[in-house]
Formats: sequence, C-alpha cells, structure tokens
Amino acid sequence: MTKGALLYSGKAKTVYLSEKPDELIVSFRDDITAFDGGKKDQLSGKGASNAKVSAFLFQLLEEAGIKTHLIRMEDPTTMRVRRLTMVPLEVIVRNRAAGSIVRNYPFTEGQVFDTPIVVTDYKDDTRHDPMINDDIIIALGLLTRNEIAIIKEAALKINSVLKAFFENIGLDLVDFKVEFGRCGDDILLGDEISMDSMRLWERGTMKSMDKDVYRFGKGDVMETYTAVLNRICKE
Ligand code: C5P
Repeated sequence: MTKGALLYSGKAKTVYLSEKPDELIVSFRDDITAFDGGKKDQLSGKGASNAKVSAFLFQLLEEAGIKTHLIRMEDPTTMRVRRLTMVPLEVIVRNRAAGSIVRNYPFTEGQVFDTPIVVTDYKDDTRHDPMINDDIIIALGLLTRNEIAIIKEAALKINSVLKAFFENIGLDLVDFKVEFGRCGDDILLGDEISMDSMRLWERGTMKSMDKDVYRFGKGDVMETYTAVLNRICKE
C-alpha cells in the first residue's frame, strides 16, 4: 500500500491519496469526539474496532446489492476505498425515537416508529449540521429530485439489512447515519458505519451499546465497542 499526500483530516478519520487516482486510503484514528467536537478523547483500539465493524457492514451491504466505497482493508485501521465526491448530507434513518428527534419534537424516548423515519441534515459543523429538506437540497444544487429518491431508497434498504442483522445478534438498531458520494454516474455509500454512527440498544432494553456511552458517560466505551465488535464478527 502506498499512502500518498494527506487529502483531508476529519474528527476521527484521515484520508490520503493512493498510488491510483480513483482510490483513496482512509485511516481510522483512535480519536472520539461528541457535541460538535466539544468533547474529545483518544481511546486505544477504537480506530481498529470502528474500521473492522465498518468493513464488515459494508461487505454485508454489498452482498445485499448496496454499492459501497469499500475496496479492501489494508491493515487493521486502514481501508482502501473508491474515490467519491461526497454529497455534504447526513442521511439519518430512525426506527425508534432517541437523540435529537426527542429533543426537537414531542416523541417519547424509545417510541417505535411504524414506518422508519428518514431525515437529512446538511453537513456543516460551523452551522451545527442543520436539518435540510428536499427543496433546499435541490436549490443548493446538491442533488436532483431523482437522486434524492435514490439516496432515500438506499438508506431504507440499508436499514432493512442492518436491522435484521442486529436483531439476530441481540441488538436493536434505533437509528444510524450514512453519507453518500458520487463515483462517475453512480452514487455509492461512503464514510463509515460503526458504533460512532449508529444507536444500538441491548435487545428489549434501552441500554446503549454505541457512542451514547461516550456522549453521556454511561460506562466504559471501549468495553462496549469491543463487545459489539465481538458479537458482529462472530456472525
Ligand atoms: O444526534 P441524532 O439523534 O440526530 O443522531 C442520529 C443518529 O445519527 C445517531 O445514531 C448518531 O450517532 C448519528 N449521527 C452521526 N453523526 C452526526 C450526527 C448524528 O453519526 N454528525
């Protein structure tokens, strides 16, 4: 593997060029942040656990017909991916009420939604990732109406696959966030899917098995992440 020039450094991952113009190298770091970077720490092994979970779930989704940017893992914290032009949107799917939807609307924590709710946020930390609707997405020139439909359908399909998978290993998929990017005429799933970007509750309880453990000091973060990783990889 040739790690080329640094392209971008985010809150938990660093992206490098590779020897091929259409492939990038993503390094998962041990950094963990919450509240728009207001809370920050380093947890040994966190990069490797998120990378492994992400690669596993991307592969699972590929097998279900969802195109992702994953090419292969290069080492435990390094993923080779297709180069995408990212769409600056966070697509969030919610099966149950938790987090911002409970703060912003009169839902009860844990309330089950009969139909999963899809929400789009505009990805911009300086604006605190405001919620964005289809008309604004189109007016900003981020996606066409047809592309919005494609992305929302993909998000719901991802939800069906992941929800069923987690049910099998005793976890309730409460919600998750995904990001997409363009690759030629295609729109692929990019970024990561890990305990940082999903809410997982121990089946039948509301016990957090995800980044809420870090956000709200609910216990040992790495113990939780490792427990989830072990359950996922036993599959
Ligand atoms: O904070 P909120 O309740 O809107 O988050 C919904 C889901 O999206 C959670 O699983 C959260 O971890 C994830 N998320 C994320 N990155 C963000 C915002 C939310 O991964 N910037």
